[in-house]
Amino acid sequence: MVTGGAGFIGSNFVHHLLTHTDARVTVLDKLTYAANKDALTPLLGDRLELVVGDVADRALVERLVGEHDAVVHFAAESHNDNSLRDPEPFIATNILGTFALLEAVRAAGTRFHHVSTDEVYGDLELDDPERFTEETAYRPSSPYSASKAASDHLVRAWVRSFGVQATLSNCSNNYGPWQHVEKFIPRQITNLIEGRRPRLYGAGQNVRDWIHVDDHSAAVWQILNEGRIGETYLIGADGERNNLDVVRALLAHFGRAEDDFDHVVDRAGHDLRYAIDATKLRTELGWRPQHGDFAEGLARTVDWYRANQQWWGPLKAATEAAYAARGQ
Ligand code: NAD
Ligand code: DAU
Repeated sequence: MVTGGAGFIGSNFVHHLLTHTDARVTVLDKLTYAANKDALTPLLGDRLELVVGDVADRALVERLVGEHDAVVHFAAESHNDNSLRDPEPFIATNILGTFALLEAVRAAGTRFHHVSTDEVYGDLELDDPERFTEETAYRPSSPYSASKAASDHLVRAWVRSFGVQATLSNCSNNYGPWQHVEKFIPRQITNLIEGRRPRLYGAGQNVRDWIHVDDHSAAVWQILNEGRIGETYLIGADGERNNLDVVRALLAHFGRAEDDFDHVVDRAGHDLRYAIDATKLRTELGWRPQHGDFAEGLARTVDWYRANQQWWGPLKAATEAAYAARGQ
């Protein structure tokens, strides 16, 4: 059972399962604004079922969990900017939804994998030689990252106090197909396709550690099968880049001038830098990223957005109107 399997990473994970394993999958997804039903529709059939529902619905979750061998939990409200505008759904889905799932897997004895984020560790200075490890102290900055931190703590407590068979992973920034146009890379790609200028928060010095979504999917599947119960694994592919460099790479790809972008209002509490040390995942489970060439991955992602305008086109105008209302 894959919660949030209609979202960006969840739908790529489902695609990974159907392509590389013989698993039969049920997606539980509320189909919020962030869901990509089109990503699943062609795959529905013998090996894939979609249940539309809320992970915080205790009765529904209890019934579904009892019918499955394992639960991989992606469902979340995922966008920091939205959490600054209205934190409430982040508490409901990310905290209470995780609680509902934990109670269900506790009752049924079902294997559980919790998908989380490097943002629970707060941020690093630009010149800090350190990166996040599994031992880094939690220091979340935004309502989104605080809600994910809370969910991680619940999972650990359910492992220790109730013996729930769970693993956790905290991954860095993903990119690839089916990512909502509210997020940084698809927003800039679709701006450029539509002839608009990219929009950079603040000076653009903030660093994110980019990983292709297919590498995240492979890591989650490996942790589900080979990870040690109760353990956390950080997932990252040594992809640190500042936002200005990413915008410049995209401008060059589209043949536009390197200063053909706008600086816009910065994000409140904007984390400066994320960086993952994935040594544990690499040494313990032997995981290696297969899509570590960022320039190549970015070019393929641009091609995908060029070919799939019928999907993102209708989302774009409303997303940009909401950003414009905030000067972003
Ligand atoms: P997304 O916003 O693209 O998708 C979230 C999905 O969850 C959507 O399909 C949505 O409909 C569903 N959903 C939301 N609330 C729900 C509810 N109450 N019940 C059932 N379904 C619900 O998110 P994403 O970027 O694919 O992120 C997936 C997970 O990975 C999240 O847990 C996120 O914290 C984590 N993560 C994301 C990244 C990243 O770079 N995007 C990095 C690390 C970890
Ligand atoms: O690190 C993992 C996290 O990565 C996940 O947990 C989140 O779910 C995911 O949304 C992502 O969070 P970020 O806040 O890092 O991603 P976002 O795409 O919103 O922004 C990436 C960077 O780009 C960040 O420094 C803000 C900046 N930005 C973003 C937008 C939308 C801009 O400069 N301009 C923009 O238009």
